[in-house]
Amino acid sequence: MKLLVTGGCGFIGTNFIRLMLDKHKDWSIINLDKLTYAGNRLNLIDLEENESRYDFIQGDICDREMVMDLLADKTIDAVVNFAAESHVDRSINDPSPFVTTNIQGAQNLMECARQRKTDRFVHVSTDEVYGSLGDSGKFTETTPLAPNSPYSASKAGADLMARAYFETYKFPILVTRCSNNYGPYQFPEKLIPLMFMNAKSDKPLPVYGNGMNIRDWIYVDDHCLGVELTLIKGREGQAYNFGGDAEETNINVIKTLLSIVGKPESLVTYVKDRPGHDQRYAMDFSLAAEELGFAPTLSFEAGLKKTIEWYESNTTWLEQVQSGEYRTFMNTWYEERA
Ligand code: NAD
Ligand code: DAU
Repeated sequence: MKLLVTGGCGFIGTNFIRLMLDKHKDWSIINLDKLTYAGNRLNLIDLEENESRYDFIQGDICDREMVMDLLADKTIDAVVNFAAESHVDRSINDPSPFVTTNIQGAQNLMECARQRKTDRFVHVSTDEVYGSLGDSGKFTETTPLAPNSPYSASKAGADLMARAYFETYKFPILVTRCSNNYGPYQFPEKLIPLMFMNAKSDKPLPVYGNGMNIRDWIYVDDHCLGVELTLIKGREGQAYNFGGDAEETNINVIKTLLSIVGKPESLVTYVKDRPGHDQRYAMDFSLAAEELGFAPTLSFEAGLKKTIEWYESNTTWLEQVQSGEYRTFMNTWYEERA
């Protein structure tokens, strides 16, 4: 199979490309990535240099002409769209790039793939499209979409467009909705790598609100497995939930991380809450279990240890991705919340 993967220089895309090329010796992948602040071409530089089944193209999923040209290559069997603006806090500061990439860009990709008659299209979405849960219950695929942040609203916009492309054109599209990922190559604006980085340099760990918000954590390889199963076995027009069966409060995540890296809990600093902060996410992934045979393979404790080991041995990667633009965003965000 020849895949066009978009956003492959980001966190999940990088892990997905590595896993798929390793697992499927008859697959080849073209990675189309704009290289925003979150995209790092060096993540996959070893493949670029040594793997004939991997190609990198720098480009924007919003670029109609370029994507049409790419998909004119009839050997591309499927598209997997990871490309997105992915950080909730950034979407609160400026929603515009989220609308551009996550809605217009996603629709552009769908339209090009439809016109080029691509066989299959997996659109990677998120549990955040469902909004927030109270103390009980889980999101199912039939939970109404009720996004609360500009990020999740933009993702929900693309999910609805995917639905419309299936209903209207019978376009062979599938949607995955996954909970919070963690693992190697995650950009250090997200909770786990940010807390790791701050803890290592004895800087305060900024916890939003009371730290009691709950996320359902999944190791990134397990999410990649879900996307792979959807691509291979999923029903066209269907959305599938994926989760890690690992609900944790943020403060628990941080305390566990501190104990693994051997740093004191006194580094925890409570700061002003994220506006519109979703209280709880939890995924019912029984549909993916029944139809695709999906089950997460790693417990949160095992996954977190593995992740921290990766960051411990890749401190140069952490330094590399902290460009000037990243520092400016983080400084302003935390100054406002101090
Ligand atoms: P990320 O921010 O780490 O990576 C996004 C990648 O997309 C980057 O390489 C960036 O350069 C690229 N990109 C951005 N705009 C682009 C454009 N216009 N054209 C081409 N490339 C562009 O994100 P991630 O955490 O790897 O998330 C990947 C996908 O998975 C996103 O769609 C996100 O919504 C979804 N998702 C993420 C999580 C999570 O916990 N991180 C959970 C569920 C779903
Ligand atoms: O649920 C899936 C989503 O998970 C993905 O769709 C998003 O792309 C991804 O960014 C992630 O969104 P969250 O907002 O849940 O992740 P984040 O790592 O930003 O925050 C996790 C929790 O930790 C959230 O409750 C906010 C809190 N937090 C986060 C940061 C960065 C803090 O308390 N302090 C922080 O500094």
